[in-house]
Amino acid sequence: MKIEVVTGQLQEAAADTLIVNLFEGVTAPGGATGAVDAALDGAISELIKLGDLKGKTGECTVVYPRSNGGTVGASRVLVVGLGKRDEFDAETARRAAGVAAARARKLGAKKVATVVHGAGVGGLAAAEAAAATAEGTLLALYRYDAPKQDKSEAMELAGFSLVEHDEAKAAEMAPAVEAVQAISRGVYLARDLVNGPSNSVTPEYLGDVAVGLANEHGFGVTVGDRVWAEEHDMGAFLAVSAGTARDPAFIVLEHKPEGAEGEPVVLVGKGMTFDTGGISLKPAANMQNMISDMGGAGAVLGTMKAVGELNLNRHIVGIAVCTENMPDGAAYRPGDVLTASNGKTIEVTNTDAEGRLVLADALVYAERFKPAAVVDLATLTGACVVALGEDTCAGLFSNDDSLRDGILAAADRTFERAWQLPLYSEFSKAMESDVADLRNSSAGRAGGASTGAAFLKEFVDYPWVHLDIAGMAYSGKARDYIPKGASGYGVRLLVDWLRNS
Ligand code: BES
Ligand code: MN
Ligand code: ZN
Repeated sequence: MKIEVVTGQLQEAAADTLIVNLFEGVTAPGGATGAVDAALDGAISELIKLGDLKGKTGECTVVYPRSNGGTVGASRVLVVGLGKRDEFDAETARRAAGVAAARARKLGAKKVATVVHGAGVGGLAAAEAAAATAEGTLLALYRYDAPKQDKSEAMELAGFSLVEHDEAKAAEMAPAVEAVQAISRGVYLARDLVNGPSNSVTPEYLGDVAVGLANEHGFGVTVGDRVWAEEHDMGAFLAVSAGTARDPAFIVLEHKPEGAEGEPVVLVGKGMTFDTGGISLKPAANMQNMISDMGGAGAVLGTMKAVGELNLNRHIVGIAVCTENMPDGAAYRPGDVLTASNGKTIEVTNTDAEGRLVLADALVYAERFKPAAVVDLATLTGACVVALGEDTCAGLFSNDDSLRDGILAAADRTFERAWQLPLYSEFSKAMESDVADLRNSSAGRAGGASTGAAFLKEFVDYPWVHLDIAGMAYSGKARDYIPKGASGYGVRLLVDWLRNS
């Protein structure tokens, strides 16, 4: 669905559904809400007086014009709450837009016209308010096209417009909304890949997706299979891939527009299309959620899609290291000693600590690009979820303060939050082995997110950020503009960082 920016009066918009907003405590609404209220013959202010409309966040009230008289042509008006004025920010706007858009679709709306949340008294710049409104809308309207016979839920909106009366402001809004649409297509791709089951979204399938992106956007592309990985001495990646009948896929996409000089930024994503734990088998309960263990790879492919659509003028490499972690007669075992592509040896103490193994070879591979910065994203540890919670923030680890600050700033702006955790030498010590250079899991469970990151650190020699997204990629709960299932976490964060750093 395309979102358009239209110059005009909201109450006159050619739409079946209008969306306006309300701050908490307002008794006489102004701006577009005031204009729609007047056209409704005061129906909104009446509901405020009655106490039925409070303007709290999450609140979304439907007002039906015909029963109230007035001149509004639409069949319904949704009034969405913006909460307290002094707490309002871009995230409030995204959430309000998401709540309203989801409600409009549920009511069977076809053509929707909305006020731009925050452009008036909200105090956001026009472009920022429009971007937040469009983003909350598009992200909330995402639906995974599940392979069900009953498609009755698949009703879609036909048109969505942001209505702004000031022509100059509308002109600032239009390009911001265009960019948001490109970024949202990247988020949609990431969500589709993470939601898809592991018998469909295989490493080979992810390779095909990468080739499709390369054809569409002119990227360089490599999809390395088992033989390719052997030629590159990727003993860690190959060990994890040993137990699966499917071919692994080491995916490299390169966006190098003419004139983009200098060292590239490299994005690396863990692409475990399914993680059984291997011989160190996971318990059966909720193992199905491990279809999301390629959330890092999904974020990298989604980001590359957005990068291509926006045609960002910088050199960017995306690596997705994809395989399955399966137990079978050929599978790697606890006690095995592996040799990664940089020659470091690794004692396997737990085959369920597989993400760090495949990332080790990917991080070594990244070195060949002489990167200015590398950011990896991985659903790496349950310990990170214990430390920071579910659906709250990613764990961030870094060896470079200025890179870290750039990522944290983008995390703040996009509300794809991240919180720094330590890489103390004690955590590296916990990864020492008697029989190899390193072990892949520490003896105890304490500090599991940090010991995982300390392992990865042994394979980088450039400015680096590691994002542990185990608690962010996939959720059993829907949020205001993030439906249940895959969140697409990381795409908006990375694109924001790439555009602003
Ligand atoms: N993919 C899991 C981590 C995970 C857990 C992601 C929960 C999403 C939700 C990872 O491969 C894993 O199994 N990690 C182990 C590491 C341990 C064996 C050192 C873990 O967290 O238990
Ligand atoms: Mn695992
Ligand atoms: Zn895993």
